[in-house]
Amino acid sequence: MEGPRWRAEAGVVYLVGAGPGDPGLLTLKARDLLATSDCVLHDHLLDPAVLSFAPPEAERLDVGKVGHGAQTSQDRIHELLRDRARTGRRVVRLKGGCPTLFGRVAEEADMLRRAGVRFEIVPGVTSALAVPAYAGIPLTARGYAASVAIVAGHSASPERPPLTGVSGADTLVVLMAMRSLPSLVRQLLAAGRSEQVPAAVVSEGTTPRQRVVVATLGTIAAAAAAHGIEPPGVLVVGEVVRQHARLAWFSEAVPDNLVVQKS
Ligand SMILES: C[S@@+](CC[C@H](N)C(=O)[O-])C[C@H]1O[C@@H](n2cnc3c(N)ncnc32)[C@H](O)[C@@H]1O
Repeated sequence: MEGPRWRAEAGVVYLVGAGPGDPGLLTLKARDLLATSDCVLHDHLLDPAVLSFAPPEAERLDVGKVGHGAQTSQDRIHELLRDRARTGRRVVRLKGGCPTLFGRVAEEADMLRRAGVRFEIVPGVTSALAVPAYAGIPLTARGYAASVAIVAGHSASPERPPLTGVSGADTLVVLMAMRSLPSLVRQLLAAGRSEQVPAAVVSEGTTPRQRVVVATLGTIAAAAAAHGIEPPGVLVVGEVVRQHARLAWFSEAVPDNLVVQKS
């Protein structure tokens, strides 16, 4: 087999997307950069197969959050990135999904720029697209939807409620939705979405533990709670959710993959 085509350079920080869970969705560039790195700072919920692409002797630092629990502070992450790069290490900062989508990449890249440290952003396959795809829900299925909005279920800014400005999109994909599902549903209903519109939650998508609950917007919060669905999960709202009944290919491919349908 040929050697790596993309090689990490000394003193550079690579802000890399690890994909949504299935290690097969890692990009070739991410795999090569990992293979030629000597320091990996990574999020918590990563498949060990992804980290195994880094050399065994590479330093591995778990800087991720466990649920709502302890997390390495953003300041400490900045310090580690800066210091490792300045001592000439080849640094991969590995983040779930795509680092540009709710991944705080802007803060880390800006800090590196100000510190005079070279960086590159390597996009990844985001859970916002891949998780619905593994649940058999193409987000803009022809005839069902022509627009999609990807939103955070909670907002970093109190002045900007999470669902501001999304009422016009045919399909909504809400990340970080699981802990506040009932209140998100109330907001969507208040914004004019019908109780009858199909809705799905997909947890641990693209992994063998993927679970899908399909209901309507009016019943999805209760259905998810009844089936003990836990984060990480995405909420998908829109007519495209109907496609799941015909296109749930991953559920068929992975026999243990539990699918719950509720209308
Ligand atoms: C802080 S955001 C980061 C998103 C990430 N940058 C991306 O592009 O996928 C974390 C949220 O992504 C979603 N998520 C990530 N991986 C997931 C998975 N395998 N299954 C379901 N949702 C996932 C969940 O909504 C979770 O709360």
